Amino acid sequence: MTITPDAPAPLRVAVVGCGVIGRLHAEVAAENRDLDVVAVVDPHPDRTAAVSDQLVAAGRPAPRRFAALGDALAAGGIDVVSVCTPSGEHAALALEALEAGTHVVVEKPLDVAIEPARKLRDASAARPDQVVAVISQHRHDASALAVHRALEAGRFGRVTSAVASVDWYRTQEYYDSGAWRGTWALDGGGALMNQGVHTLDLLLWFLGEPVDVVASTARLGHDRIEVEDVAVAIVRFASGALATLHASTTVYPDLGVRLQVHGTDGSAVIEADELTFFHARDAEDGDWQADQSAEEVGAGATGSARGALDPQESHVAQYGSSHGAQWADVVAAIREGRAPWVTLDDGLRALATVRAVYLSATLGERVRVADVVDGRYDGRATRTGGTAPRPQETPTRAPAR
Ligand SMILES: NC(=O)c1ccc[n+]([C@@H]2O[C@H](COP(=O)([O-])OP(=O)(O)OC[C@H]3O[C@@H](n4cnc5c(N)ncnc54)[C@H](O)[C@@H]3O)[C@@H](O)[C@H]2O)c1
Repeated sequence: MTITPDAPAPLRVAVVGCGVIGRLHAEVAAENRDLDVVAVVDPHPDRTAAVSDQLVAAGRPAPRRFAALGDALAAGGIDVVSVCTPSGEHAALALEALEAGTHVVVEKPLDVAIEPARKLRDASAARPDQVVAVISQHRHDASALAVHRALEAGRFGRVTSAVASVDWYRTQEYYDSGAWRGTWALDGGGALMNQGVHTLDLLLWFLGEPVDVVASTARLGHDRIEVEDVAVAIVRFASGALATLHASTTVYPDLGVRLQVHGTDGSAVIEADELTFFHARDAEDGDWQADQSAEEVGAGATGSARGALDPQESHVAQYGSSHGAQWADVVAAIREGRAPWVTLDDGLRALATVRAVYLSATLGERVRVADVVDGRYDGRATRTGGTAPRPQETPTRAPAR
């Protein structure tokens, strides 16, 4: 890595949680000359060692290794803490880092419960000089940026409805691979909280303030999990628009994600992170055409929203390539003293909407999202409805996801 004399020093990053996504954050940081991973934290020494080896193989110095965030913070020399642990620990660890004076990047979802997430938001508001960003990397996808830009310009007319469908497949082995997976305490939910929250966040980014939710959930295709593998909901927005939301991890053989946005003057469809349909009024140069890739449209809006990672050699094929773009925004936000692209309020709104789905499914009633944010349901347990024995075994041959 070459640093020009006038370039600011790289931000010193601690990656907390060295599992699947912690490795991706280390990989992204290794490709960004504004970032140096100086510490890796995980109670499992083999996992910190593996990430350290990964960084060294990428030509970066070996980071210090710690078993707990408190030890890493006490050792000092950290500018940004990246929280990549099981979801139920996110807000508490982010708060610990914030109170120690660092900037923070929190993986999605912001947490599994509203109370710690709200506490983090309030603590962050009292420390405006520290950036706290919530990962929602698909907001940086070229396709999502192109749709958002058209929505902001009013080019779909009045937005009337949206259809969000997360038709994924996760094997039983996936849920069995970590004791925290599929638990209310640490995963906080299933197909919607863990997998669908990405698409839900895009839906909220596109359609605005969610007002209320009516939902049902079920666990139908997996064993040994407490949470749902199918969630369906109707979301009503402040604009009057309506959306249907479907999130599943038991769609075989995995049909991917589809998000449709419809208005009186146009519509857009994003499938598997790509813009596959776009019609808006006042056609502009750079609008999507049948023979044009979504990247070209998005690149016109923002410069490249794609990272430089090789899908063959990384986790990028699985999680998209936009973690790099989000980290670049975090670096810029810290250096420019501005808010990040995806804020704590965004993360809290997405979390509250997921919780509203679970509360509606549990209580059998319409739930207002603002009531969830404000604490009306604090401490209220949720459960998975409609569980039933599976008629047949899970197929053993499954897409690699
Ligand atoms: N943005 C995305 O596309 C994406 C993709 C996958 C996972 N995630 C999120 O990342 C988080 C982790 O998921 P994963 O698949 O990497 O899980 P994982 O089980 O593979 O890794 C979690 C790691 O955290 C460690 N850990 C647990 N408690 C810790 C603590 N207090 N301090 C330090 N380390 C701790 C565990 O030992 C484990 O190594 C989840 O919240 C998940 O929702 C995001």
